[in-house]
This record gives sequence, structure tokens and C-alpha cells, in this order.
Amino acid sequence: MIKITNLKKYYEQNLVLNDISLQIKKGEIYAIVGHSGAGKSTLLRCINGLEDYQGGSLEVLGEEISNLKQNYPKKLRFLRKNIGMIFQNFALINRKNVFENVAIPLRTHYSQSRFYAKLFKKDFMSEDEVQAKVNKLLDIVGLLEKSKAYPKELSGGQKQRVAIARALTLDPKILLSDEATSALDPNTTKNILELLQKINKELHISIVLVTHEMDVVKEVAQKAILLEKGKVIGEGLIDELFLKPNHKMKEFLGESDFLPDKGLNIKLYFPKEIAQKSIITHMARTLDIDFNIVWGKIEKLNGNALGNLVININQKDKEKVLDYIEKSKVLWEIVS
Ligand SMILES: Nc1ncnc2c1ncn2[C@@H]1O[C@H](COP(=O)(O)OP(=O)(O)OP(=O)(O)O)[C@@H](O)[C@H]1O
Ligand SMILES: [Mg+2]
Repeated sequence: MIKITNLKKYYEQNLVLNDISLQIKKGEIYAIVGHSGAGKSTLLRCINGLEDYQGGSLEVLGEEISNLKQNYPKKLRFLRKNIGMIFQNFALINRKNVFENVAIPLRTHYSQSRFYAKLFKKDFMSEDEVQAKVNKLLDIVGLLEKSKAYPKELSGGQKQRVAIARALTLDPKILLSDEATSALDPNTTKNILELLQKINKELHISIVLVTHEMDVVKEVAQKAILLEKGKVIGEGLIDELFLKPNHKMKEFLGESDFLPDKGLNIKLYFPKEIAQKSIITHMARTLDIDFNIVWGKIEKLNGNALGNLVININQKDKEKVLDYIEKSKVLWEIVS
């Protein structure tokens, strides 16, 4: 769907995207994460052809964006039909009601009069078809009964639902979301994320999610890229990024390991299927040993419980503990 290789983007002398590579496949929910100023929005704007880039390659649906921008503006417009976008501030038109806000892309893209369609070489879409399409989308986002309301009469979450419906009117294959939940409270955020997941599953739309909120990433994304000052500091499957964070990633998450210097510290990584079993207490009982739990956490990633735990054992127990852990299929490493 999206293939980015060694992408570079400058604002004048300022290198804001520095050698970015990533691939987003059909049906994925992919998060772009980073602090303010990291280059997240810029990357998103490159993807939908709003910004130029000066190096590397950026292919969307098999087309090199810079090539379309320079040589095939019509093709670029057509490609952008396949890319819906939502924003933190919703970007609704206040003097139009919910129905008309959602209908905007249909009315700009198609003509509802056969005469004007021919005159302006636009495609034709009848008013009945517009009504049916908008109502179907309002139904999907749960706002059918608000179709006559104006934006000022809606809550933040409802406004974002309208924006989501509008982003889907031209049947995009990709939905880009720039901090779509950042202005919402945690509960509303959860509802909007559930809606995005539903859209991803039922309409088979790939979603690229820009956010600075780790909880959002953990909740819905399958893969993520972490940006810091325009550079990639981590990329890959969410499970791996969070369970085995590299040094940079730990810094980003504000995590550091405080480890006892006596004994042996073993870090355990629990795969999905055994995260919630009480392996550790069972081990202590079976092997009849003492140990300390240094720290640990279990998190929900993508609906799966995943955890890691650091235990501190006596050197003398090393062999039997590692033997036990190995047998129980928990990943481990010795940390100091
Ligand atoms: N139009 C522009 N002209 C010049 N510099 C820009 C422009 N837009 C963004 N920048 C700079 O590019 C860098 C990346 O900005 P960008 O908006 O992509 O960050 P971001 O990760 O989306 O941040 P935030 O989380 O605050 O939205 C910043 O240093 C910013 O100042
Ligand atoms: Mg931004």
C-alpha cells in the first residue's frame, strides 16, 4: 500500500525527515509516533501528496508520489481519492449541517446534474445516490439521527465521527489520521479508536495513525514507527517494540531498569499465550528457591495481554531456573 525508502525532506536548510524507510501493508493499522516536532505530520502530508520531498522514494498504491506531482496531476488527484484524512481539529464546516459536511467530497467530485457533469467533464452521481451514500456512512459512525444537526451542536467525539464519515465518502483504501483523538477525553478516545478498528476490519481500509499517545498505539496498532527529530528510532511490530524496547525506545517511554547488583537478574518476556499464567510462582514452588521480583508489568497490546518481568535469583540457582524457564517457553535474557 505504502512503501517509503530513505525518504528525505527539507524545509529550506532544515532536514525534517531524515532517511525514513517503512512499509505499510493492506489492512494494517500502522502508527507513526513521536514527540512534538518529530516530523509526524510532515510525513503524513508527504504520503498524501501535499508536500514535496527531496530524496528517496515514496510509493502509494504503486505510484511514486513525486512523479505524479510533477508529471501527472490528474493521476495524483485520482490517487488522493483513495486516501481519506482526519485531523485533531475535525475541520468541519460550521455553516453546513452534518449531512452536508459528509456530502462535501461527493459534491466536489461528482456532479448531481447530468448537464453540468458533461460540461465540466465530471462523473455523475444522482442526488438519491448521494443521500444513500451519506446515510450509510452516518449509520456506520452512529450518527444517523444527528444528520440535521450543526457542528456547534455536537460533542468533540461526535464531530470526529462526522469527519470520519466524510473521509470515507470516496471509498478510500487508506485512512490517514493526524492526532484524531488528541483533543478528546479518554473515554471518547476509546470509542473513536473502536470505530477506527471497525472501519479497518469491516471496510478493509488501511489506517495510518499519527499520535504522540502511547496508549493509542497500544490499543489499536499492529505496527509502529517511532520518530525523533526526523529520524527513525524504532520500527516494527508493536509486541516487539514494547516488549523488547531498544535503548532509544526506553528513553522515549521514560523507562529505565533499576537492577540490583547482587545475584543474577533475568528478564522474562511472556508471549501472548502464557502471559497470564502464574509461571513464576509455580517455578518457585517446583524448584523450591527464593527470588525477588525486581519489576514487571503486563500490558494490553492490541487486545492481547503481554508482559515482562525482571527477577533476581541467587547465582547458585542459575542452572535450574534457566532450565525451567526454557522449558516453559518464556523468552529470557540475563540483564545487568
Ligand atoms: N511549513 C513549514 N515550514 C517550515 N518548517 C516546518 C513547516 N511545517 C513543519 N515544519 C517543521 O518541521 C518539523 C516537523 O514538524 P511536524 O509538524 O511534522 O511535527 P509533528 O511531529 O507533527 O509535531 P506535533 O506533534 O507538534 O504535531 C518541525 O521542526 C517544524 O517546525
Ligand atoms: Mg503534527
